[in-house]
Amino acid sequence: MDFKNLVLTEEDGIGIVTITREKALNALNTQTMLELQYLFTEYGQKWAVSGIVLTGAGEKAFVAGADIKEFLGMSAEGGSKMAQRGHDIFFAIERFPKPVIAAVNGFALGGGCELAMACHMRVAGENARFGQPEVNLGIIPGYGGTQRLIQYIGKGKAMELLMTADMIKAPEALQLGLVNHVVPAGEEIAKAKEILLKIASKGPVAIAKIIESVNAYFDEKQDGFAKEVNAFGETTGTSDFIEGATAFVEKRKANFKGN
Ligand code: CAA
Repeated sequence: MDFKNLVLTEEDGIGIVTITREKALNALNTQTMLELQYLFTEYGQKWAVSGIVLTGAGEKAFVAGADIKEFLGMSAEGGSKMAQRGHDIFFAIERFPKPVIAAVNGFALGGGCELAMACHMRVAGENARFGQPEVNLGIIPGYGGTQRLIQYIGKGKAMELLMTADMIKAPEALQLGLVNHVVPAGEEIAKAKEILLKIASKGPVAIAKIIESVNAYFDEKQDGFAKEVNAFGETTGTSDFIEGATAFVEKRKANFKGN
C-alpha cells in the first residue's frame, strides 16, 4: 500500500509519522484509517525503528476527529462497521510492540483524542486542546473514547467531558493525567523523541512485554498478574537479560540486541 495521507520519516532510529490532511485539520477519513491500519499491522512489523512519534501536519491540529464529511448518509450498520474498524486499528496501535507517542500539536478532538489515547504516551504542546465533541453531532465516540478516557481521567470527569463536549486545554489535560508532558508549541516531537531515545537504550523484549502486561490490566479476558508472571519468565529467558545482568556486574552499559 502507498502512503498518501501519512508521511513517514526517520530521525535517530525513531519513526516520525505525520498525518498530512492539514486543510481538513488532519481529520481521519477512510483512506487515512486504512493507512494507519497498514502502518501498525504490516509495515510496522518490519520498520527498523525503536519507536514511533505520531503527529499531525501544521500548527493548528493533531487530528480534529473522524472525517465528518464521510458521515453524511451513513446507516446504523455502516456506523457499526466504521466503529469496529476503528477499534481494530486503535487496538493495533495500543498493542504495537514498540513505544508509540502522540505529539499533540493543536486540536485533538473526537477520533483525534481517541487516537492520542490509543498511543502509549502523549506529549502536548501548550496550544493543544482535547475533547470528545461527538454529542454535538448527535453521536457518541466510536473509536474507544468512552472506554479509554475513563482509564486516564476517571469515570466522573470522563462523564462530564463526554456529555458536555467541553474542550480542555493542555495544562488541565496534564493535571487530569490525560497527557504525560506539556511543552512549548513546536517542541512536541522533540520531547517525544527524547523519551523514545531513552527507551531505545533498554531491552526491546522487555519494552514489548511492558506494553503487553500493562494492556492486560485493561483486558477483562486476561489476568494481568498472571500475564506479568509469564512475561517476566519470557524476559529472563532472553540473551538481553544475560547481557543486562552481566553489564551491571561489569559496571558497563548494556548492549541489548532484542533477543
Ligand atoms: N471532519 C472533516 N473536516 C473537518 C473536521 C472533521 N472532523 N474538522 C475540521 N474540518 C475541516 C473544516 O470543515 C474546514 O474545512 P473547509 O475549509 O473545507 O470548510 C477545515 O477543516 C478548517 O476547520 P474550521 O474552519 O472549522 O476551523 P475552526 O478553527 O473554525 O474550528 C474546530 C476548528 C473547532 C476543530 C472545528 O473544525 C471543529 O469543531 N471540528 C470538528 C470537531 C469534531 O466534531 N470532531 C469529532 C468528529 S466525530 C468523531 O470523531 C467520531 C469518532 O469518535 C470516531
